[in-house]
Amino acid sequence: MPTDRSSLAYLEAMGVDLWIRRDVSGDESGVEAVNELVDESVDESVDVADESAPPPAGDEPVEVTAEPETQTDVAAAAAAPADTVTVDSPADATQVPLEPETIVESPATEPADDETQDPVELIARADLESLQTMVSGCERCPLSRTRNKTVFGSGNPDADWLFVGEAPGRDEDRQGEAFVGKAGQLLNAMLFALGLTRDDVFIANVLKCRPPDNRDPMGEEVVRCEPYLHRQVDLVQPKVIVAMGRFAAQALLRSGDNISRMRGQQYEYRETGIPLVVTYHPAYLLRTPDQKGKVWDDLLQARRMINGG
Ligand code: URA
Repeated sequence: MPTDRSSLAYLEAMGVDLWIRRDVSGDESGVEAVNELVDESVDESVDVADESAPPPAGDEPVEVTAEPETQTDVAAAAAAPADTVTVDSPADATQVPLEPETIVESPATEPADDETQDPVELIARADLESLQTMVSGCERCPLSRTRNKTVFGSGNPDADWLFVGEAPGRDEDRQGEAFVGKAGQLLNAMLFALGLTRDDVFIANVLKCRPPDNRDPMGEEVVRCEPYLHRQVDLVQPKVIVAMGRFAAQALLRSGDNISRMRGQQYEYRETGIPLVVTYHPAYLLRTPDQKGKVWDDLLQARRMINGG
């Protein structure tokens, strides 16, 4: 039961009301939290126009409902170098192959005589502005055909905090900006509780394009897209990365582990020395508001890491 001022401010910003009842014996020193009511106002205050649509990719429950096979396959595909991506293997439930004719050749199959033509090399050398331009014209996977706008990410290029989500949803695809829908409003509340605004942090996604109908990202899409995120991390050089949701955590850490086990651990992002904290996706919190306290714990852990603790 959080009692310090910043934790209470967080819970208030997140729409959680704490009701404290006096001990029945009348002993006020023994006052304990007896009821934690969740105020659904966060949900109500946001755009509900998409209620009938399938939940955004990031809205998928991030733990218990995740199927182990899916986790493993996504992690395995994400871990595979781009040149090992199989584009013509038989489809199965989790590894639907990209159509060969829709795929822009992977670096490994391109002529190696001029290294500067290697798209991954170019990405790895781009500054933030040219990286954004590359993303806006990206055709490295078939999501380029179905997207409306690419979603590069935004915020302070010198941010201490880098928040990473899964993929754009409907609103993000329309507006070209990360976390502008319901989950984004909750993320704003989380930032507010930390004394931050979106201008203080950098927010990005693993995928820069919306998967059709908000389906789960495919491993191949992650492989094609993740060089952009890697470069964003290189350029921003955050003091901490907060991976929001199972998918972001698994992709960033190349892990098939369950998010419940990943939370609370101290990770390092790709041997860069940048600490990484795993927490639940804000969209998951919209559906499971009683988990908001755990996310606050994770954010405090991230803040401690920024402060060197
Ligand atoms: N969910 C995400 O993971 N990212 C967004 O930008 C929006 C919703």
